[in-house]
Amino acid sequence: MLLGVNIDHVATLRNARGGDEPSVIQAAKICIEAGANGITTHLREDRRHITDYDVFAIKNDLNCKLNLEMAATYEMKKIALELLPHSCCIVPENRQEVTTEGGLDVAAQTEKLKEFIAPLIDAGIQVSLFIDPEPGQVSAASKTGAQFIELHTGAYSLAFKRKSEKNEFSKLKQSCSLAHMLDIKVNAGHGLNYENVSKIHEIDGIYELNIGHSIISKAVFIGLDNAVKEMLNLVNKI
Ligand code: PXP
Repeated sequence: MLLGVNIDHVATLRNARGGDEPSVIQAAKICIEAGANGITTHLREDRRHITDYDVFAIKNDLNCKLNLEMAATYEMKKIALELLPHSCCIVPENRQEVTTEGGLDVAAQTEKLKEFIAPLIDAGIQVSLFIDPEPGQVSAASKTGAQFIELHTGAYSLAFKRKSEKNEFSKLKQSCSLAHMLDIKVNAGHGLNYENVSKIHEIDGIYELNIGHSIISKAVFIGLDNAVKEMLNLVNKI
């Protein structure tokens, strides 16, 4: 499995004081030098953490895979087509939420999403749709032309070591096999940490994990370089 590190929280910390410390670009560079396979950033409509400047600087100054998480809006599509990141992950966005709360309801807007992502795919960007692990959402996603889904692991992460863990985990497993049957590749992320990530190896064929909060939190104590390496050991099963 590959590891994409979500560095939004480095920008959250920077923005807390309005200056340019800690540097988002330096953080991205450290993650890549530590072995991460890519950098993930969510450019939110309210720019609460990552800014337009950040995404263009990561793309232009670092030779790394950039995964841009974005809402399905006209503004974001325009930015993505100018930025040309390696991939775009389409997420739902709600101004009041602390972090992305649920998956996209692809089943309710299959045609709209198909139309929205077509120019991104034509521009050579890999598109993934962030969805809850539900069969209806997986099959709807396979009708949009997106090459990937990203399975929302939040419910599994919250259920970890609780009674509902087995049930939440089996939803991920079943959604992943359905996606493969429908010829769509699978990433996963949200809420994964140093404890709950290893079980993901029991699911066959997940391509990449996108992990942010847990890595940046650990970095406070052991440094970003070590935090990324420690997660890579788990993701690569070393
Ligand atoms: N994947 C998606 C689509 C997300 O929105 C987020 C959070 O920004 C993540 C992965 C990473 O989640 P976490 O910060 O909980 O690791």
